[in-house]
Amino acid sequence: MSKVLITGGAGFIGSHLVERMVKEGHEVIVADILLRGNKIPRDIFKQVNFHNADVRDRAKMIELSKGCKYVFHFAAVLGVDVVADNPVETMDTEAIGMRNITEAVLLNDVEKLIYASTSGIYGHSAISDSLTEDIIVDPRTSYAIAKRYNEIYLAAMFEEKGMKSVSLRFFNVYGKRQDNRMVVPRFLEQALAGEPITVFGDGKQTRDFTYIDDTIEATLQLTETAKGCDIYNIANEEETTILDLAHAIKKVTKSTSEIKFIDAPKKRYDYEVERRFGSSEKLFNKTGFKPNTDLEVGLTAILED
Ligand SMILES: NC(=O)c1ccc[n+]([C@@H]2O[C@H](COP(=O)([O-])OP(=O)(O)OC[C@H]3O[C@@H](n4cnc5c(N)ncnc54)[C@H](O)[C@@H]3O)[C@@H](O)[C@H]2O)c1
Repeated sequence: MSKVLITGGAGFIGSHLVERMVKEGHEVIVADILLRGNKIPRDIFKQVNFHNADVRDRAKMIELSKGCKYVFHFAAVLGVDVVADNPVETMDTEAIGMRNITEAVLLNDVEKLIYASTSGIYGHSAISDSLTEDIIVDPRTSYAIAKRYNEIYLAAMFEEKGMKSVSLRFFNVYGKRQDNRMVVPRFLEQALAGEPITVFGDGKQTRDFTYIDDTIEATLQLTETAKGCDIYNIANEEETTILDLAHAIKKVTKSTSEIKFIDAPKKRYDYEVERRFGSSEKLFNKTGFKPNTDLEVGLTAILED
């Protein structure tokens, strides 16, 4: 049993990580300012040491990480519209948050920092096949630039201070408890309400939808095995068009909703990458595991209670 700090632990991915860690018997400290409410299930929450604490609060991060074996740094401002409207808060949370977390990790001799990076870092990278960690990245949004800055900062902290870390480039994670800032819950809500499913543009843009349980499994396997300072994709390796996602959601919900094509708001333009799907080869070579949940299976699981 280990003591761990999870920043952003009340959010979508964080709450699943918290749930898994609590069930495995770890002592879990959560730091979160509840921007989207608290997604930790009630029975699990009772077993967590929760702090309404901001990652931009240096002293608090130092205090909360005392005695921890791992710090999972998942707190972030995200969601295309949210980031487009709040670039300063997005970048401050990333840059100041990471500065505080690294200082806390170093001061308290935390064994490893596990950082939630993003596939958004690839931005407009040239893509002929699935994206691998070694291609030249091209982030263009405040969110993706700040994530890349942090990856580089972690590399510097390893070189300068020997601080161990792993950055996880998540690819469109989906699952229970996600809110409708993201496309999967938005389409599900529309389909279940019998309203038009609104697809931006022609729907031919692609993404790689990775199921939450696979994401958590990969995260925990890399927490144990990753060495030094490294970066891993966590991707399902399936290139899915947004239109195919809309059809899959219609199918699993048995919805009669029409699919409606609308123009993306101008503020989303930098986010509207045409193709994005990842390779999890590096993850597989390290751990023997890679995400493999079929999209319809994952979507169906969201609907089950
Ligand atoms: N969901 C995805 O598909 C996806 C993809 C790539 C990367 N990520 C990364 O994974 C992590 C988790 O994402 P998520 O989908 O669970 O998002 P989320 O918005 O559901 O959770 C983020 C949490 O961070 C908290 N937070 C924000 N600012 C904070 C601050 N200053 N101090 C403390 N807490 C703060 C929020 O209150 C929220 O609970 C984020 O770092 C995100 O950038 C997510």
